Amino acid sequence: MRLAYGCMGLDDVDRADEAVRTAYEVGIRLFDHADIYGGGTAEIVFGQVLARHPGLRDEIEIQTKCGIVLGGAEGGNAYDLSRAHLLASVEGSLERLGTDRIDRLLLHRPDPLARPAEIADAFDVLTAARKVGAFGVSNMAAPQLAHLRSAVRQPLDVNQLELSLHHRDLIEAGVLVNHADAAAYAPVTGTLEYCTDHAVTVQAYGALAQGRFTGRPRGPEDESTATLVRRYAAELGATPEAVVVAWVLKHPAEIVAVVGTTEPHRIRACADAEQVAEAMTREQWWSLWTAARGKPVP
Ligand SMILES: NC(=O)c1ccc[n+]([C@@H]2O[C@H](COP(=O)([O-])OP(=O)(O)OC[C@H]3O[C@@H](n4cnc5c(N)ncnc54)[C@H](OP(=O)(O)O)[C@@H]3O)[C@@H](O)[C@H]2O)c1
Repeated sequence: MRLAYGCMGLDDVDRADEAVRTAYEVGIRLFDHADIYGGGTAEIVFGQVLARHPGLRDEIEIQTKCGIVLGGAEGGNAYDLSRAHLLASVEGSLERLGTDRIDRLLLHRPDPLARPAEIADAFDVLTAARKVGAFGVSNMAAPQLAHLRSAVRQPLDVNQLELSLHHRDLIEAGVLVNHADAAAYAPVTGTLEYCTDHAVTVQAYGALAQGRFTGRPRGPEDESTATLVRRYAAELGATPEAVVVAWVLKHPAEIVAVVGTTEPHRIRACADAEQVAEAMTREQWWSLWTAARGKPVP
């Protein structure tokens, strides 16, 4: 299944239990965390859910991220991909999750001060100790990913990036070549293509567009897209949520959508997104894109 469950919003064990069970029931097996979600609360609550359901741990994949230090700079956050930070972060996640292994560890964001050889060393230590099964990155453009891949000995097989009908940079970058607006998307130009060519799965976070087109508009500009989403949902016999997520899944890169709603009915509403992507016509896909960007492609 090309859906993952995003655990960022989990903050209460009973609600988390219901959300995790619902996600499992609809077929989701990949659960996405980060050491910083809720300041560690999301992992703690998830660990409590695992403790309630013996056997569940072995049936799912737990992915977490490290590298963001909340309040790590005066006036804001910092990113830290030093060896010491990576090792300490994993210990913290294992402890909070109440598990002996993380299936995949993602480097949350690029750290300008990082030394790739240190990252490689930390990955070797974590692999040898069987504390982490696989590695990936998040929020990295193709050259940054390529740079790290040349330093570490394990495959980096996931890049988690924001991608939705609202946050479309990866897609916009692919068509605005030679266009006045191209500069805005230059950093991610070629990232989808690089990932496809190197067997790196793109995980799309925010794939539900935080509800903008499915009942929680942020402004009047969201209305025309929301109207089209509802119309296509009716035409496809689908939920509006599945249509929004399907817009991401229809891309041929075989993207995995990370959905972060904590509401069981909304988790269920996303469940058929992959089938809806197959049924969605080219015209529907392009029309949704055109509505969301507010103007036709050049
Ligand atoms: N790698 C990164 O840097 C990064 C960054 C951000 C997120 N992520 C991952 O991606 C996951 C999803 O991210 P996300 O939560 O930003 O995006 P999302 O899945 O697009 O949106 C989920 C959020 O939107 C709300 N929402 C959705 N539909 C709604 C509606 N109709 N009415 C009201 N609220 C609605 C949800 O609230 P309810 O819970 O009330 O439904 C939830 O807060 C996270 O859990 C995390 O695992 C990764």
